[in-house]
Amino acid sequence: MQLYIDTANIDEIRQAHDMGVLDGVTTNPSLVSKEGVDFHDRLQEICDVVKGPVSAEVVSTEHDAMVEEAEPLIQIADNIVIKLPSTVDGLKACKTLSDRGVKVNMTLCFQPLQALLVAKAGAFLVSPFIGRIDDIGSDGMELIQQLRQIYDNYGFETKILAASIRHPLHLVQCAMIGADVVTVPFKVIQQMMQHPLTDKGLAAFLADWDKLQKAKGKQPAGV
Ligand code: E4P
Repeated sequence: MQLYIDTANIDEIRQAHDMGVLDGVTTNPSLVSKEGVDFHDRLQEICDVVKGPVSAEVVSTEHDAMVEEAEPLIQIADNIVIKLPSTVDGLKACKTLSDRGVKVNMTLCFQPLQALLVAKAGAFLVSPFIGRIDDIGSDGMELIQQLRQIYDNYGFETKILAASIRHPLHLVQCAMIGADVVTVPFKVIQQMMQHPLTDKGLAAFLADWDKLQKAKGKQPAGV
């Protein structure tokens, strides 16, 4: 399962990249707005750090305008992926750009038929939003299961990018179902290597080691 970070914050991206296991980045207009920076400049900064796919979302809502808006974004770096909404115009723009060899991430996917059509249109990624479905009292993970089965049934190559991740359990479930990619907020990425028993166990190992060193009249560990 590939790991993307879901943020436009360059410090978070650098820290996640330094962990050595980051495969890509997703941004959206809300995340960029939170940073208060120039969108194109920030994309350039991100692409200087991360060589895997970096999703850049258009804010136009009609086919021609979406394709036009995508042009300068594509020029920023080879690894830019154009992010489009899962609407009829988005679907048409997905087909236009994919036919030209541009990689597209179809976002705001909330039901399996949107995913079926964007795969037919040649999308590189589809982004089902798990957390936002959970937020309205439905089961976001059921959508991941449906997409996995539909894509496997027909051999679609579009990658399932599980988005709107809220907590580590979402990631465990995505991995068990077989989502291709997860895009994860920095806070949840940090939680992925945490367990209180790891901290407790490590502290006990180090304390026991220090006891041994003291008994042998040597310096304690880490001194
Ligand atoms: C995905 O590409 C989106 O940016 C993101 O996962 C949305 O998540 P949210 O529901 O936490 O805003």
